Amino acid sequence: MAIICVLHPFFDNLVAEGWLETAQRRLLGKRTASRFELLLAFGADCAGAVSIIDPEPAAFHAEKLDQSDHANLAIMHNRASLSGIQPKLLLVKQKQKYRLAELGDVSTHIAKLPPLNINDIVYNEWLTLNACNALLPNDDFVVAELAELPGIFEQALIIKRFDRSDDLQKIHFEEFNQLLRLDTVAKYSGAYKDMADFISTIPSCLQSDIYRLFKRVLVGLLTGNTDMHFKNFAMFHSEQGLRLTPNYDQVAAAIYQPYQYVALKMDNESDRIIGQLKAKNIIALGREFNLSNASIMMAVDEIHGRLDAAKQAVYNANQTHTLMQDKITQLMEKRWRGTFSLIGQRLSKKP
Ligand SMILES: Nc1ncnc2c1ncn2[C@@H]1O[C@H](COP(=O)(O)OP(=O)(O)O)[C@@H](O)[C@H]1O
Ligand SMILES: [Mg+2]
Repeated sequence: MAIICVLHPFFDNLVAEGWLETAQRRLLGKRTASRFELLLAFGADCAGAVSIIDPEPAAFHAEKLDQSDHANLAIMHNRASLSGIQPKLLLVKQKQKYRLAELGDVSTHIAKLPPLNINDIVYNEWLTLNACNALLPNDDFVVAELAELPGIFEQALIIKRFDRSDDLQKIHFEEFNQLLRLDTVAKYSGAYKDMADFISTIPSCLQSDIYRLFKRVLVGLLTGNTDMHFKNFAMFHSEQGLRLTPNYDQVAAAIYQPYQYVALKMDNESDRIIGQLKAKNIIALGREFNLSNASIMMAVDEIHGRLDAAKQAVYNANQTHTLMQDKITQLMEKRWRGTFSLIGQRLSKKP
């Protein structure tokens, strides 16, 4: 009988993905290193409050990394585990300056660097984050800035960690992939409704978080953020119960041709093409969240009232006019006219 060892989803979701995962295997000098081995070697400064410390740390093989790649070299210092596909480094902010986090540090910031295939994604995220923030001014968003990381990268998105307090205490949270007990690879397997159902069935959750989550999904759809999977939403474990963390990973992915499919099921169907979303699909999403017509309309009206401010925020985010700013504002305008603007009419027709 074959024994298959898998990590519990809570731990599997702490392990790096993509570029970082590959670089970590190289650093361990073991192409076949399991995700458990990666967690043991790089789990000291994970997302949330759990640290994984190996009493007998594995040896590192820095010579196996491409020494000309500064980002590669930086992960040798960090030895950190953060999931997500984009390359990232952990930083410590000290005296208004950022430095790379070293093994044993509690990092305060995350630097997101562009992957090789989409080099303007960092700038895209900066603009989209500004748009979303302006669309939902009463919600929480990560605090970020676009800045140079001297000697490493000319432009990174530097994001303050919401799971580290100012006095460097670790604050626990779980991504929805963890809360729903799904492995990393299953982050696209499910529906937005699953998160709403989770909140409604856990007694310590706030029902108002369902409405908050609904508005986050709407704003994501309006800005072309097709990559809203279960790892891009999370909840804090607070003394009062589970509460949504700030919004993170807002990227207008739909401006890139290959990213037209909505990450999770909505209105009972997977792989919906964002450009083909109809008012009825958004209404159905609201119903899947158990929201009344009045609540759905209130969310849409709130977003409508902020649309111009959001477009302005995209232009204010960078004083030099760029094509990307036009693309994102045009995308929002198109989604508004093609999908959202027709919701009121459709709702008033139906009893
Ligand atoms: N500001 C933050 N504070 C703490 N953890 C964060 C923060 N932003 C992201 N994370 C964690 O890091 C993971 C990867 O970040 P994310 O921005 O989603 O990167 P990617 O674009 O590669 O998916 C998230 O799924 C979340 O668990
Ligand atoms: Mg992400």
